[in-house]
Amino acid sequence: MDNGVSRRELLKASVIGATVAMGGIATAHAGETTDVRIGNSVKSADWKKEKHVPLIEIPQMIKAGEPFIVTMTVGKDIPHPNTTEHFIGWIALYFKPESGAFITQLGKYEFSAHGESSLGANKGSSYADPCAMAKVKLNTSGTLTAVSYCNIHGLWESSIPVTVA
Ligand SMILES: [Fe+2]
Repeated sequence: MDNGVSRRELLKASVIGATVAMGGIATAHAGETTDVRIGNSVKSADWKKEKHVPLIEIPQMIKAGEPFIVTMTVGKDIPHPNTTEHFIGWIALYFKPESGAFITQLGKYEFSAHGESSLGANKGSSYADPCAMAKVKLNTSGTLTAVSYCNIHGLWESSIPVTVA
């Protein structure tokens, strides 16, 4: 083609739902790629039946402006594998106020050791279990959401409503 963009590049761009601009840069079109938005790839299920779903635990009584502990656990009832090849890499915690349009990330907790070693896979001395505790303070009611990442099975989420007194 005479604009410097090859037919192959154009075909490739159309497959991924993008358009190649004159300079050969791929750009996404709003509204045309809804099937590939990241939210559509985040799975959810009952944490008692699905080992990837993060369980969120909070106190029964939460007072506005007073710190409390949020515990996030993957695999509390059904343990998830924790090996060099298959592990939970992180859990992130978010809060969406009931009257707000935007979500806040409260924290992201990485699990970095899964038995890796110079001796080989699963021969290491340490493993990080996918459990994290966060101390947070809320001034309003809303929803806490945890998202976990498995290196094999992707993103999983769960949410819990929070009413502050
Ligand atoms: Fe997994």
